[in-house]
Amino acid sequence: MKELMQKLREASLQAVSQAPTMETLEDMRVRYLGKKGELTGILRQMGKLSAEERPAMGQLANQLRADIEAAIDARRESLSKALLEMKLQQETLDVTLPGEADRLGHKHPMYNVLDQIKDIFVGMGFEILDGPEVEKAEYNFDKLNIDAGHPSRDWTDTFYFTEDGKILLRTQTSPMQIHAMETRELPIRVLAPGRVYRKDEVDATHSPMFHQIEGLVVDKGVTMADLKATLNLVVEQIYGKGTVTRFRPHHFPFTEPSCELDIQCHKCGGKGCPTCKGEGWIEVLGAGMVHPKVLAGCGIDPDVYSGWAFGMGLERLAMGEYKITDLRLIFENDERFLQQF
Ligand code: PHE
Repeated sequence: MKELMQKLREASLQAVSQAPTMETLEDMRVRYLGKKGELTGILRQMGKLSAEERPAMGQLANQLRADIEAAIDARRESLSKALLEMKLQQETLDVTLPGEADRLGHKHPMYNVLDQIKDIFVGMGFEILDGPEVEKAEYNFDKLNIDAGHPSRDWTDTFYFTEDGKILLRTQTSPMQIHAMETRELPIRVLAPGRVYRKDEVDATHSPMFHQIEGLVVDKGVTMADLKATLNLVVEQIYGKGTVTRFRPHHFPFTEPSCELDIQCHKCGGKGCPTCKGEGWIEVLGAGMVHPKVLAGCGIDPDVYSGWAFGMGLERLAMGEYKITDLRLIFENDERFLQQF
């Protein structure tokens, strides 16, 4: 029996000290010390021993059990140390590697200009309106007094969705005048910026999609003097105090009288330069007194109420403000361009 225990001691201590994983270590514990394990198997033979021999054998067996347990504990500890070591190794952070910084964008330069204009009008009590880019011809043309034969209704100028020509991409923000008059309580003061679409070839000054800003005021006793005074004020806030303006007669079907507003070239002071193409003046917007027919069509009595409206191109304004020479840069989203603002 003594030899058996000695054999078990050598075999188990050797095996335990080399157990490759926690799982094999646990298997060994069961195999050597478990209820049906090898040590128990040896102790079963105690019955064959004499009463004198038993205590010494019992002591030997207890010692062996304690030694195997100690060896298992020691191996478990060294295995878990190695495991931790390995984990630390795997999860090492190389703080010298280049980082992956989040890239934060910023507002598009054209929308900087739009926000500036919105602020000016909000300061004067205007409400900002948003409206559909897919529009009924009724709102884009008919209700604006643009009759069936008008050239802007031509299929070569306008993007239509339907054969009957009833649904289109709005060619101007002026239909927002109609939406405003149909949905707002009087008096009305609204500013409606947004995209508009025309069948233009793309070049340095044209794009089939561009932005306009529509303005509309309807109230009792509104006159052309209000239009001129308000727009002069706005121009001074955009282009600086003392900017010289001129109102040229023009024609729009939905305003009467109609005009265009030019500013004297701020680059050359009116002498003529590349910025104003030698004209001395730069066209800024179209405007006029809302046509009585348009008012009446929206259920507003033109004998009681009058109004003025304007429409302004946003890209051209941004190009002037930031000295951008090609319209395409505004839409191409080239980061080398955008990052300059
Ligand atoms: N909608 C006109 C255009 O696109 C501009 C305009 C708006 C003129 C409002 C008068 C009044 O040219």
